[in-house]
Amino acid sequence: MRATRIMLAITVTAAVAVLATATTAHATPVKPDPAATALYRKECGSCHLAFPPRMLAAEGWTRILGGLERHFGQNAELDAPTRDLLAAHLVAGAGDPGDAGSASARITETPWFRDEHGKAARAVSRPSIRTLANCAACHPGAEAGDFDEHRAKIPRN
Ligand code: HEC
Ligand code: HEC
Repeated sequence: MRATRIMLAITVTAAVAVLATATTAHATPVKPDPAATALYRKECGSCHLAFPPRMLAAEGWTRILGGLERHFGQNAELDAPTRDLLAAHLVAGAGDPGDAGSASARITETPWFRDEHGKAARAVSRPSIRTLANCAACHPGAEAGDFDEHRAKIPRN
């Protein structure tokens, strides 16, 4: 019982630390906090995969989080504290702009993604794929963060 309380206190402290770090101009990457990861999966993993933070640059995440009430044709609005916590989590884990690409709010429109997905893009109209944002259609380990090209497989239909 006491151990649970202490763990909870540590978790909350860590979340605040993440928030504080991410708002500093030159934040060093911090280890993802399990509570923030769980919150992210809950709030951002219901309509699509909770895309790994490293797949988008910080600017892209900031744009996404700043426009949730009009999110690709959906309303994904969150209360401000939740949104700010997720923003800190995503910015802290964001990819390097060199790799993750410009300020694009779409992973699927970043230069590195396009480079890797020429063949995938030609197969996108297949019913089991529908959209390139459907990562798990071709990356069976996507939920667990596994995007290794050797395990990627484009479904035939
Ligand atoms: C109500 C459903 C819904 C929720 C909740 C939601 N999204 Fe989305 N999201 C969408 C739709 C629809 C798209 C467009 C998918 C497509 O183009 O195929 C999208 C696309 C995206 C993309 C771009 C994917 C690409 O094409 O590269 C990102 C990044 C993203 N969402 C992040 C988030 C984050 C972060 C959250 C949580 C704060 C979130 N989403 C919550 C519905 C949702
Ligand atoms: C239609 C199938 C398809 C979809 C959808 C798809 N991918 Fe891929 N992806 C591939 C294939 C195939 C490769 C391997 C490309 C190659 O080796 O030329 C790949 C490669 C990658 C790589 C590079 C892996 C490495 O080992 O270098 C990453 C990262 C990646 N995909 C992430 C994503 C993410 C994130 C999404 C969703 C936003 C996504 N993919 C959606 C088929 C897909």
